[in-house]
Amino acid sequence: MASPISRKEEVTSSWLVAALGMPGRKIVDVTTKNVPVRNGFLSDMFLIEARLEEDAALGKGRHLNLIAKVPPVDPMMRQVALGLGAFEREVEVYNVFGSARFKDVCRRAGDLTFPIPKSAFATKSDTGGTILMRYLASKCGYKVLTSPEGLATPTLKVALETLAQVHATGFLFLKDMAPEERREFLPSKVKWEILSNHVLGGCSAVARKFSRHPVSKVLLEVAGEFRSCLDLPRKHPSFEAICHGDLWHGNLIYNADESRAILIDWQLSERGNPAMDIVTLVTLSASSESLTTEAISSCLQSYWRSLTEVLEAAGSPVPVSFLRLETCVNEMWLYGVLVLMGSIKTFLEQGKISDRRLESVLNFVHERNLLQALALEE
Ligand SMILES: Nc1ncnc2c1ncn2[C@@H]1O[C@H](COP(=O)(O)OP(=O)(O)OP(=O)(O)O)[C@@H](O)[C@H]1O
Ligand SMILES: [Mg+2]
Repeated sequence: MASPISRKEEVTSSWLVAALGMPGRKIVDVTTKNVPVRNGFLSDMFLIEARLEEDAALGKGRHLNLIAKVPPVDPMMRQVALGLGAFEREVEVYNVFGSARFKDVCRRAGDLTFPIPKSAFATKSDTGGTILMRYLASKCGYKVLTSPEGLATPTLKVALETLAQVHATGFLFLKDMAPEERREFLPSKVKWEILSNHVLGGCSAVARKFSRHPVSKVLLEVAGEFRSCLDLPRKHPSFEAICHGDLWHGNLIYNADESRAILIDWQLSERGNPAMDIVTLVTLSASSESLTTEAISSCLQSYWRSLTEVLEAAGSPVPVSFLRLETCVNEMWLYGVLVLMGSIKTFLEQGKISDRRLESVLNFVHERNLLQALALEE
C-alpha cells in the first residue's frame, strides 16, 4: 500500500506502482503538472502522465492519465480543509464506491457502470491523504460545461438521470447495512457555521445588484432566517441515499456528445434526503429556460424513470412515489436558494452565473412566494 503524498514532486515511478497496485510492473516517463481549472480551495490537485511499460506475460503497455487530489499545502487552507473533515469524506466515499460490496450492488442493479472517475487509490492519514483517479481528458472529449447560462434542459436531464443512478445504488447499499453501521456512515454535516457569512454576504450582494427586483428587499430581511432551511431535507423526507452534497455543473464531467455525465468532488457528501441534491442542482445550474414549472416537471420525470429503472433491475421496491418526490422537491427549493446564496459571490466573481440566469432564479423565488414562507417563520 502506497503512502499518501502532499505535493506533485513526491510522485515517482515506484510510488505509482504501489498506488496503482501493480507490483512487478514498470512505470516510466512520469510527468506532473497543475490542473488548469480550479473551483474550490479545499484541496490541491495535479495531473500525472506516465507510461506503463510492456510486460512479456501481461502484454501491452499503455499511457496513464491520472489526477491526484491532496489536502492543500498552504498551512491555513490545510487546517480549514482537514478541520472540516471534507477530505476525509471524499476518501471514505471513493473507498466505498470502489468496494466489493458496492460493486455487487451495481452488478445487481443491471450491471450499472457507476458514474464517477475510476479511482485507483484513496487514502487518508492524520496529516493528510491522497485520492488518485483517472483523468477524464478533454482530448478524449470529456468536458465540464462552464457556460454562465447554465445547463440547458437536455443536459440538466442527463445530470438528473445520472444522479438518480447514484441515489438508487446508494439506497440499495444503505438498505443492506445494519442500522448501527448505517448511522455511522457519512453522518450529515455541520453546515451553518461554515455557510452563514457566505449566505448573509450573498444575500446582500444579490439585493444590491437587483435592487429593483421585488424579492430583493425580502431577501435582505430574511437573510438571517436561512439557517432554518438546513432542516428542510429532514422536514420533508423522501428516502435515504448517499447524496453528493455539492451538486452544481462544475462538479459534473460530460462525455463528448453530452449524453452521459460523471460526478466528481465528493467532499460534502452525506447520507440523507436525495431531494437536496435535486434542488441544489436545479437552483445552481439550470438555465433560465429550464426554470419553468413544465421543464422542471419533465426533468423530475427523467430522474424518476432512471431511479425506478435501477431499482427495478435490482428487484427492489421504489421507496417513494413520484408525487411524494415532487412534493418534497417543491417544499425544499429554499434549500437550493440557501446554497446558491452561499456560493453567489464566487459565482459572480468567476463568471459562473450570468445576470440573466440569476434574475431567472429570483423570478422563480418570486413566482413561488418562497421567501414569504421564510419571513413567516420569524
Ligand atoms: N477525474 C477528473 N478528470 C478530469 N478533470 C477533473 C477530474 N477531477 C477534477 N477535474 C477537474 O478539476 C476541477 C476541480 O476538481 P474538483 O471539483 O474535484 O475540486 P474543486 O472544486 O476545485 O476543489 P475542492 O473540492 O477542493 O473545493 C474540476 O472542475 C474539473 O475541471
Ligand atoms: Mg468542485
